[in-house]
Amino acid sequence: MLRAALLWLSERPAVFDFIKRNGMARRMARRFVAGEGLEHAEEATRELNGRDVTVTLDPLGESVRSADEAASARDTAITILDRIHETGLAANISLKLTQMGLDLDPELAADNMCTILERARSYETFVRIDMEASDYVQPTLDLFAERLHPEYGATVGVVIQSMLRRSAEDVERLIELHARVRLVKGAYMEPGEVAFPDKRDVDDSFAQLAERLLASGNYPAVATHDERLIEHARAYAAAHEIKNGAYEFQMLYGVRRDLMARLRAAGHNMRIYVPFGTDWYPYLMRRLAERPANLAFIAANIVRETFARS
Ligand code: FDA
Repeated sequence: MLRAALLWLSERPAVFDFIKRNGMARRMARRFVAGEGLEHAEEATRELNGRDVTVTLDPLGESVRSADEAASARDTAITILDRIHETGLAANISLKLTQMGLDLDPELAADNMCTILERARSYETFVRIDMEASDYVQPTLDLFAERLHPEYGATVGVVIQSMLRRSAEDVERLIELHARVRLVKGAYMEPGEVAFPDKRDVDDSFAQLAERLLASGNYPAVATHDERLIEHARAYAAAHEIKNGAYEFQMLYGVRRDLMARLRAAGHNMRIYVPFGTDWYPYLMRRLAERPANLAFIAANIVRETFARS
């Protein structure tokens, strides 16, 4: 119920206009978002690289309203790629197709992505296309399979959400393409026709899809903070003599740093998803929806800090 309410709020830009001026909300965001500027993202990346952990930078932003806004998101992505190249940081980037104009015109989004991927290829780096709500899955996978993957190969990868009923078939198609896949549970509110309503089914699906990707995928990313599923993936890889270097674990900035450190110490490749930018509201609401206890935790911290200062 609370999860549904938070996800509903995540799609209300008017609420963001109201809360972005609120100091408490901004402090809440700082737990999950590196900061508003690229310099903050670089600082977080340097710190993580210092722990031998790689990063994927996410310039926050979702559906744009004009071709100019999409062009600006594209140029931001290129600036980040340039900066990663100049600084030598161990990072790549994650983007959303709606940022690139998918809602306005799929051709526009495709052209913007191609411009970004040209630059990424020249730097021999990698761009991940995040997966958004279920209505976007088919257009995203079509664009990936028909245009981006044939042209840019291992420079570009996609995301599969284990909560979706269609994902087992999508994974098989992506394995055939030898595409790079990040596996997640899925962060959006979805109807029962397209997604498993029961969390146990989402988790079972994650375990099965992780096995398929570990066995036959191309450097899959197992992206979860769920220790049981992480152990399942590790045990499967060990039993099938799949080397640590053949896949990576991924987690979100600000979540389970203890687990991140343990996996890295055990010799696993570990990448952290580091979001930054001014458009943090929908991202923050999805993180709170995943664990509504964060609301109480963050509020308690803010109260403690406020009293400590006064
Ligand atoms: P689950 O929600 O079951 O949580 C397992 C445990 O992890 C919890 O018990 C808690 O301990 C901890 N935890 C999880 N979330 C937490 C939080 N916010 N705060 C504190 N603790 C938390 N989704 C999507 O739809 N499209 C995408 O492209 C991506 N991309 C992506 C990249 C990466 C690197 C990650 C890790 C995740 C995504 N996601 C995503 C989000 C994903 O779909 C999912 O919503 C979150 O990862 C939370 O699910 P878990 O797998 O962690 O399991």
